Amino acid sequence: MNPAMPHPEMRIAPSLLSADFARLGEEVTAVIEAGADLIHFDVMDNHYVPNLTVGPLVCQAIRSYATVPIDVHLMVKPVDALIPMFAQAGASIISFHPEASEHVDCTIQLIKSFGIKAGLVLNPATPLSCLDHVLEQLDLVLLMSVNPGYGGQSFIEHVLPKIDAVRKRIDATGRDIWLEVDGGVKADNAQRVGSAGADTLVAGSAVFSGGRYRESIEAIRTNALAGLRSRRA
Ligand code: DX5
Ligand code: ZN
Repeated sequence: MNPAMPHPEMRIAPSLLSADFARLGEEVTAVIEAGADLIHFDVMDNHYVPNLTVGPLVCQAIRSYATVPIDVHLMVKPVDALIPMFAQAGASIISFHPEASEHVDCTIQLIKSFGIKAGLVLNPATPLSCLDHVLEQLDLVLLMSVNPGYGGQSFIEHVLPKIDAVRKRIDATGRDIWLEVDGGVKADNAQRVGSAGADTLVAGSAVFSGGRYRESIEAIRTNALAGLRSRRA
């Protein structure tokens, strides 16, 4: 398949958080050649989350390497001022946490005003009621399966029923809203994440730490697709 065309059923989004930051451009090229559908770009501000990562300048720097969409995950508070900067820097998708916005509907509209897909991110303890009144405005729901802040954490199993619940809510809208899961996703839990209803999986340490990018991406995708198909069967 053309690497620039996202997989139609199960998208894999390697998180650069676990990449070699001294060679980010090469890392982006390598994971795309290995089958990445999106590049997941984690932005942390040492305020909304304890960690501190990268900003729009680094997004701009990887832009020419990213022949697939850049999926920006903003873990920053307040969030609105950074959105125009990431739009300018080449983001294709921008997702934010409702706790980081004073006016969630305004932030969604701000993202969409740049022609960018808008996503809302729910932490493990964030209730699904925050999707009320906004779900139909969204292009993507991002469910955290770890608490945000660090790569390499363990998948929180009790998020699985939440994935299923969001899948049902999305299906009820009849819209093509992506359901992305982020945190601790690995080949050995991807089947369960797929069978719960996810269609887009972020994987940081599971892709970058072993060094075998293609094998890691294919294993996650194959297992997640098996789960998704068992759900449909
Ligand atoms: C956590 C980040 C995740 C994380 C994923 O706050 O949003 O994207 O980097 O990394 P793994 O797959 O290692 O949990
Ligand atoms: Zn993330």
